Amino acid sequence: MGLLRSLLLGRPDGLRAGQRRRFGGGATAAAPPPVSPVVAAPAPAEAALGLKPEPPRGVTPPDGFEVVLHKDALKPGKVTEIIVGGTAIAVANADGAFHACTNVCPHAGGPLGEGFLDGDCVECPWHGWRYNVKTGERPENPEIKVDRYEVHIEGDTIKILLP
Ligand code: FES
Repeated sequence: MGLLRSLLLGRPDGLRAGQRRRFGGGATAAAPPPVSPVVAAPAPAEAALGLKPEPPRGVTPPDGFEVVLHKDALKPGKVTEIIVGGTAIAVANADGAFHACTNVCPHAGGPLGEGFLDGDCVECPWHGWRYNVKTGERPENPEIKVDRYEVHIEGDTIKILLP
C-alpha cells in the first residue's frame, strides 16, 4: 500500500505534495491561510508590483463603512475592482471624485472594474456598455442602471457604505 500510495501521490515532501499544498487539493494539503471577512485585499506582492492597489491599514471606519483604498492608489481617470465582504465593487476616480458601483455589468456580467473610465462613464470591457458612475445610469438607455454605493473620503482613505 505504501508503494502504491507513493506512486499515486508522490513523496510527502515531493513536488506533487507541494503543489497540493499550494493549490489546496489532496488529503495532505495544509489549511488555507485565514482571509479577512471584511476586506479581501490583493496580495501584498501584487500591490508592491503596482498590479493592484492595496487598502490602507490601521484605519477604523464608521459603522457600516468599509475602508477599501488609499486615495493615491486610484489615479484620476482610472477604475478598479475590489472585493469587500465577498461583494465585487467597481471604484472609479472621475476627475478626483470617487464613485462606487456594482462590479457586475447588467448586460452579461462583465467586470466593470476591469473596464475603462471615460469622463463620468465606466465602459464594460466585454461589450462596451457604459454607465455613468455618478448616477449608475446607462446613457444610451437610462432605464438600465447599476447599483451605486455611498462613498466617503476621510483623510487619504476611501470608504464605502455597504448595504
Ligand atoms: S457584459 Fe458588459 S457590455 Fe456586455
